Amino acid sequence: MNVADLVTRFSTAVADQPEEYAHKAVVQVMNDLKSDLKGVENALDYLTGSGGNALQAFYRAPNLSLLKVRFPDGRRTPPHNHGTWAAILVLAGSERNSLYTRNDDGSLTYERSVDLEAGSVFFMPARAVHVAECTSDTPALGLHVYGANVLGVERQMWDPDTVAEHPLDWSKYEGFAQRASAASKAPLT
Ligand SMILES: [Fe+2]
Repeated sequence: MNVADLVTRFSTAVADQPEEYAHKAVVQVMNDLKSDLKGVENALDYLTGSGGNALQAFYRAPNLSLLKVRFPDGRRTPPHNHGTWAAILVLAGSERNSLYTRNDDGSLTYERSVDLEAGSVFFMPARAVHVAECTSDTPALGLHVYGANVLGVERQMWDPDTVAEHPLDWSKYEGFAQRASAASKAPLT
């Protein structure tokens, strides 16, 4: 397997699908890839998987983005959304996803946390807000797939200390992530 194979598998899966079924086709491809997690990891070895979505993305189309995401031990994201649906296949390590509901005033209500390990497939609808954090000694590595051009959609992030809503701004994201990582747990959990 190489990166072109991955792009082909996902882009073919969503091609000619009505938009409302694209995420199901993506989850199916992820389930198929579970049998070769190491092959996927090796195909994406040339990417660091860190430094923001612009560096993590290896394919961006209007209806599909493919990213390699790497969270080292101790790394936690601020709450954020994706501007579209998102699906994660964990390739190595483990991570916890804490899920929130965004209220009409932009505030968050904590809903639940889900622990994922290598081989887990996790789907989030477009309305989902989450925090992801590494829960293993080794980095949590994931293949993340979004149903839009991830750098072309409007997104929000939330201050990990005040839980105030902000437009997702990559120049401010890392500061939010560092404060989120320094906290003992995800906000409101
Ligand atoms: Fe995310």
